[in-house]
Order: sequence, then C-alpha cells, then structure tokens
Amino acid sequence: MKPYRWYFFIGMFCLALSSVFFMLFPAVAGEMANAAAGKSKYPFTLGEYGVFFLILLILQSLLSYGRSVAMAFVSEKGVAQVRKDLYKSMITQPYSFFESNKVGELSSRITGDVEQLQTVFSVTLAEFLRQIITLIVGVAILAYVTPKLSLIMLATFPVIVISAIFFGKYIRKLSKQRQVEVASSNSMAEESLYAFHVVKAFTNELFEIKRYNGILDRVVDVSIKFAKIKGLFFVFLITVLFGGIFFILWQGAMLVQSGQMTIGDLFSFIIYTGIIGGAIASLGTFYTQLAGALGATDRILEIMDSEPEIHPDKQAEAESAWLKGDIVFENVSFTYPSRPDVEVLKDISLRIGQGQKIALVGSSGAGKSTIVSLLMRFHEVGNGAIKIGGADVRGYDIFQYRKNFATVPQDVILFGGTIRENIAYGQPGADDAAILEAARKANALEFINKLNDGLDTIVGDRGIRLSGGQKQRIAIARAILKDPGILILDEATSSLDAESESLVQEALNTLMEGRTSIIIAHRLATIVDVDCIFVINDGKVIESGTHAELMSNQNGWYRYLAGMQFSQSKLSLQLSEN
Ligand SMILES: Nc1ncnc2c1ncn2[C@@H]1O[C@H](COP(=O)(O)OP(=O)(O)O)[C@@H](O)[C@H]1O
Ligand SMILES: [Mg+2]
Repeated sequence: MKPYRWYFFIGMFCLALSSVFFMLFPAVAGEMANAAAGKSKYPFTLGEYGVFFLILLILQSLLSYGRSVAMAFVSEKGVAQVRKDLYKSMITQPYSFFESNKVGELSSRITGDVEQLQTVFSVTLAEFLRQIITLIVGVAILAYVTPKLSLIMLATFPVIVISAIFFGKYIRKLSKQRQVEVASSNSMAEESLYAFHVVKAFTNELFEIKRYNGILDRVVDVSIKFAKIKGLFFVFLITVLFGGIFFILWQGAMLVQSGQMTIGDLFSFIIYTGIIGGAIASLGTFYTQLAGALGATDRILEIMDSEPEIHPDKQAEAESAWLKGDIVFENVSFTYPSRPDVEVLKDISLRIGQGQKIALVGSSGAGKSTIVSLLMRFHEVGNGAIKIGGADVRGYDIFQYRKNFATVPQDVILFGGTIRENIAYGQPGADDAAILEAARKANALEFINKLNDGLDTIVGDRGIRLSGGQKQRIAIARAILKDPGILILDEATSSLDAESESLVQEALNTLMEGRTSIIIAHRLATIVDVDCIFVINDGKVIESGTHAELMSNQNGWYRYLAGMQFSQSKLSLQLSEN
C-alpha cells in the first residue's frame, strides 16, 4: 500500500476534518436553542447561526467527496497492487511450492483474502477513524461541559481496550481458520468441476455433492463460532458503554432539574451522547473486521514472504547463459522432500554428449521423469552433481538456465486462447511468419488451415477440443519456436494412436535436428536409432548402450522387453508366458 500512502493521508485528513465539523453541529444547534431562549453565552443572532450552518454543510460535502475519491485510489489501486504482487510471488515460487499447495487455495488468497483487505481500505479504516474521532471529540466536549460525568465514562476505557485485545486475538484466529475452510471448499469445487468428465464417467455426482456439502458444513461451523465470538464482544461493549452513557444522561437530567444546566446544553448533550453511543456500537464491528483482515493479511504475507526461485525483473536482463558441452550426471541421488523415506534416484551417473539423442527407458515409476526434472532444476539434487560442459548447473542463473530447454510432455496443456497464442508461448512476441513456419515444421499447419478460424481458433475450456496428436503438434511448434539447445520429450507419443504417432514422430524428428535430445519412451521402436539408451530401473541405470549393443546382451532387460515388443506374435508370446 505504501505507494499510495499520500492518497491515504489526504483521505484520512478529509475524513478527520469532516468528522470534527460533524461534531460541531450539535454544539452549534445547542447554542442556537440557547440563543432562541435568550440565554446564549455568545453574541450571535439566529441568522448568523443559519449562515454558519450553511458553511459547515458545504465544507462537509466537499470534504466527503475528497475523502471518497482519495480512498478509492487507495483501495482500488493499492489493492490491485497487492494482487499483482501476490500473483508475482506465487508464479515465481519453485516447483515444491506448487506441489505442496492446492491451486484452489492459492486462488482464494488472491480473491477472498485480498477482498477483505479491499473492504478494510475502502470502508472499514475510514469508518473506524471517523468513529474514533467522533468519540474523542464527543468525550472532549462532554468533558468541557460536565467534567465529573465524563470521568465516569473514561474509566470504562481500559476495560474495553484490554478486552478488545483479548477478543481481537481470538477473532483473528477464527477469521484465519474460516478463510482456510473457505479456501479448501473452493479448491474442492474447482477440482471436481475441472475433472467433470471423471465425475461423470464414474457417476460420482452424488459423492461429490456430499463431499462439498461436508466441507461447506465445516465452513458454516467455523463461521458461526466466529459470529458468536463477535456477537459476544459486541454485547459486552454495549453493556459496558451504554450503561455508562445512560448513567451520564440521568445525571444530566438531574443537573437541569436543579438549574445547574441550560436546556440548550442538555439538548446538545443528549445528541452527543447518542452519537457517542452509535460510535461505540459500530466501533466493535469495525474492530472485528480489522482483526479479521489481519488474519487475511497473514495468509497473504505468508506467500509474499517466501523466497521465490525467480526474480523476473532482475533475471530477464541477466546475461544469457547458452549451455555448451556434454551433460553429465555424477553420482546423483535424490529424494522428494514430500516423501523423505523413499530414495527415488540412487547414485545415477550418465553422460549425454552435446547434440546427441539419448533415450531413457524403464518401467513406470523407475525415475525417468525425475531425472529430467532434476536436469531442468525443478528440484535440487540431493547428493552428487549435474554438470554441463564441466560446470555445475547450480552455478547458473536459473532463469537463464531454463531458457536452454524445451519439453514436449505426454499431456500437453494448452491455455484458453487462440492457437496462435499457444504456439507463440514458446517465444512471446514472435511474428506470424515465424509462427506459421513453426506450425509447418511441426506438421500442424495442415490441420490448422482446415479449421474455420485458422490460427485464430480458440482452444481450451471455451474453445474447440483438439485431439491428442493435434495438441502434441502444437506443443512441438511451441518448442520449435523456442529453439532450445536441449530438448526433452517425456513420453511425447505414448498416448497417441499409430496414425497421429507417425505425424508427431515426423515433427519430433525435425525438432530434434541439431539439438541435444532426451527422449523418454515406452515404445522402443521409436528410439532404436538414438546414440545411447539408458535403461533405468528402481532409480538406477542398469544398462546402457546403443540398440545393437543392448540387444547383444542375452540376459539384458532391454533385450527381454524388445523381444516382447518387436515379436510378430507379441500377444501369443505373452499368453504363452502366462
Ligand atoms: N512430486 C513427487 N513427490 C513425491 N514422489 C514423487 C514425485 N514425483 C514422482 N515421485 C515418485 O518418484 C518415483 C519416480 O517417479 P518418476 O520419475 O515420475 O517415474 P517415471 O517417469 O520413470 O515413470 C515414483 O515412485 C514416484 O511415485
Ligand atoms: Mg514419467
């Protein structure tokens, strides 16, 4: 909020001034009544009082307008800034952050928690200040008129402050808890809506409804607890303070009766008492809102304070690091932080020559994807080191380092937008000629041209659904546009039918030309001609060599697998084995 502090101060200044003016009304009104009764201490006529009222009124309007505009600047611009910063903090967090936080919960921090801040800055803070000023000015005026009675009132203040601190802590905790529950209900709903096809396929609508209802019931439980504690605080305030006010009022009436006070003074006295009562009543509400917003702030700061892995502003300008040389894994071991008891990679050593094509094969869960995610530095290696051209990869700036890579995964994720935007994601700002060329090389141009809107066709949630092979080719075009030195194909063709596989394979071959390529594949037919094949099993390299070398090992795992896959009568082989 700091950049908008001047607007905030201007707003608060207008507010303070208009609150003071507002508090003058009853005093002036009281004096006017005294003047009408001929008992005024001041030499003003009724007409002059009228003019004074008018001036107060105009000033009051101007100040209110000034305050609204200034506070709108703070709450709109400031809160947008908080959202921008929060989003930036999130998107620059390392991989592990996204593995340990649910997307729905994160997005509820950007929406729900920031929303609370917005209310505070647009309404609550201003009202809070106004009521405090009202209270102080009101008490001061009362103290001037009837010092003895005002002391009784002030005596209740420490009680209020101490209990406010006590209640505030509790309220803050509950507010935070409530936000957590709301966030988890959001994320549950979001997840199931995203995966609607799974829900439908399993006819689990009822199950999901029950699950959602259960979570919402918890939200309600916490909310009611929250409301109860707020209500308790409120009742407490009213009892203590209104008790005091009524007592003062009663004393005032006695003073008038005994002739120690004019009727005009009692008139303004009553109005002040009413205003002070109102201020105190609302103070409780605003205070609890503020305490709630502090809980939301905690959740926002939690993310903003965690160290990002990327500082886009600084790193975009950093010197680019084009990686050269062989990629070497030296005795790399790795354990996922989320599963400390399982060592996923065990002392892996391998060498990938620059410009070579290599393949990682092995059963699923063997650790192939983990190897490439360590290479891309999504996670830090445990023991050992990964070196490129002899230099430890940890020495490179991560932002520049990752620019060297492109991946084509098994499940391509396209953003909701046009095909053009999705291809240009490989190199934001690329011109149409480059995009078309990339699409052509990726074997995608033909099907794109058949679509009514061509490159402008909307894909994703609100657009048309592309087939697996089509998505794959868009991902390849994206990678071609990025033009990386190192290419990672993680089961890029594993889920395709034979026809689209050959189209995609052709595009992949174009993409791999002149780059170091790491291919993770299940169908061995797609990798027979690579420079080296590493067979991974249970986090270890158990065999390596060219296809021919591995085939010559009679008892090798690779030969066994290849025998199964390449056999003409694969099915009968499997059947006879069983
Ligand atoms: N993010 C993760 N957190 C914890 N364990 C993981 C994570 N990703 C993968 N694993 C585990 O690591 C092992 C290797 O996984 P992976 O590298 O994906 O295998 P592959 O790609 O060879 O099928 C598996 O046992 C898997 O359950
Ligand atoms: Mg994998």
